Amino acid sequence: MGVLEPVVDVQPLLEIKNISKGFAGVQALNKVSFSIAPGEIHALLGENGAGKSTFIKVLTGVYTRDSGKILFDGQDFHATSSGHAQTQGVSTVYQEVNLIPTMTVTENLTLLQQPKRFGLISPKRAKQRALEMLERVGLNIDPSKQLDSYSIAVQQLVAIARAIGTKAKLLILDEPTASLDAKEVLRLFELMRQLKSQGISIIFVTHFLDQVYEITDRITVLRNGSFIGTYATKKLPQAELIHAMVGKSLDELTSGSNRETSDSADDVLRIQNFGKQRFLKPVDLSIAKGEIVGLAGMLGSGRSELCEIIFGAQAVDQGSMEIAQNAVHIKSPKQAIDHGLGYCPEDRKIDGIIAELSVRENMILALQAKRGWLKPIPMTEQKAMVESMIERLSIKTPNLNKPIGELSGGNQQKVILARWLLTQPTLLLLDEPTRGIDIGAHHDIIAIMKELCEQGMSLLVASSELEELVIFAHRVVVMKDRKKVMELTGSDISQKSIVNAIAQ
Ligand SMILES: Nc1ncnc2c1ncn2[C@@H]1O[C@H](COP(=O)(O)OP(=O)(O)OP(=O)(O)O)[C@@H](O)[C@H]1O
Ligand SMILES: [Mg+2]
Repeated sequence: MGVLEPVVDVQPLLEIKNISKGFAGVQALNKVSFSIAPGEIHALLGENGAGKSTFIKVLTGVYTRDSGKILFDGQDFHATSSGHAQTQGVSTVYQEVNLIPTMTVTENLTLLQQPKRFGLISPKRAKQRALEMLERVGLNIDPSKQLDSYSIAVQQLVAIARAIGTKAKLLILDEPTASLDAKEVLRLFELMRQLKSQGISIIFVTHFLDQVYEITDRITVLRNGSFIGTYATKKLPQAELIHAMVGKSLDELTSGSNRETSDSADDVLRIQNFGKQRFLKPVDLSIAKGEIVGLAGMLGSGRSELCEIIFGAQAVDQGSMEIAQNAVHIKSPKQAIDHGLGYCPEDRKIDGIIAELSVRENMILALQAKRGWLKPIPMTEQKAMVESMIERLSIKTPNLNKPIGELSGGNQQKVILARWLLTQPTLLLLDEPTRGIDIGAHHDIIAIMKELCEQGMSLLVASSELEELVIFAHRVVVMKDRKKVMELTGSDISQKSIVNAIAQ
């Protein structure tokens, strides 16, 4: 079914007809069709688990398709691996960038994925080639430096430089902007426009709808593995787009999200003059029982740093901390957990997803550690807890024994969030809890956060989604240049006031 908005009068670069792909228990793609014109930027959208990454992997030969036809440049296309696809002009930058931080930029660009027949190339030629590849993406950096001496945004552009190499016709970007700040996103967009003007086509997967409207020509929506439609971006109002993705209207999604203020006066956490040289300027902050405190600020403003020092992941060199009115000196995350804190960091890879372990095992991990490894949680109890979380967070998995590595990226993130929710900490620190998570599930997560706080848990939530902070936070702390610059309460909390505080 679905709508199909054609590109006018051009021979598509890529045409996909009715591809299907099933995994045990899941029909990840069900007769999906797609086309992209030369020089077109095409968004591929859908909820977590809709099939976007699978679509890309089937196209690039990482997975074999069960059925369907792929025409590239008018020819039958059968890639057998992403490397093979790349030699044919189809290059992908995956959701998780796989560069090697401790190698130089040149090594990252030339050693990996080097077709064997070229053999080893001389350092001088390697550098020359690296410079050419960097120039193509407009990056003016020293390729002999180690990759991790550059920001994540630059590393991302290096990944793209490597992907497009010298002859890509189609570039696929699977959530490339998830860890970029606003300025870095602009830089990426500049690059995308430049590639477009060279006639390169781009498939762009993202959960940021504003970005879709800013940069793409057309949109294809998948839902539950099925093709819902292809639309001209300009002709599709955002409310209709959300409806196509989620199958529900925006009103249904946002109902009941009014802010109430916390009336509790007992502080679960109080820090004073709490900081660390060259890491975070001294901060004063208190959080009451049942309160949700939002942490706003640009990437690198000190949001994550504040969470880290509270959780004992970084030692402070000044200030004091009280938990439930008792002075404490937390020196490690273990001690923080013992004091009733929980911390769900931003990068789910660092946070230790154990890919081979099941959804249940991954989710139960922190609670088991908290209760002690010598007291295994009875299986029936585990199952009940995990099943309830799967339902409440709408985690898309056929059952709780599925290896977490086989879940979609956003659903893995929900499992990690559930892991910390299950420990029922008195204070939970959440760093970007909704990043990489689709718009429908954002709402579920906010609802759960509010429910837990009504039951007495407190939350400190760092988020770049100002709209959400405004909806759920009782108080918002604004960070800038590793310093707390403003605290907003009650009706003073608005997107505008937060932006003003950041811009000041
Ligand atoms: N290797 C695999 N084995 C089994 N099932 C898989 C595998 N890869 C994906 N799936 C399942 O296929 C479905 C689609 O997943 P996919 O990763 O394509 O989603 P997505 O649209 O990219 O989601 P997200 O926005 O969360 O990244 C999910 O139900 C997922 O669990
Ligand atoms: Mg994905």
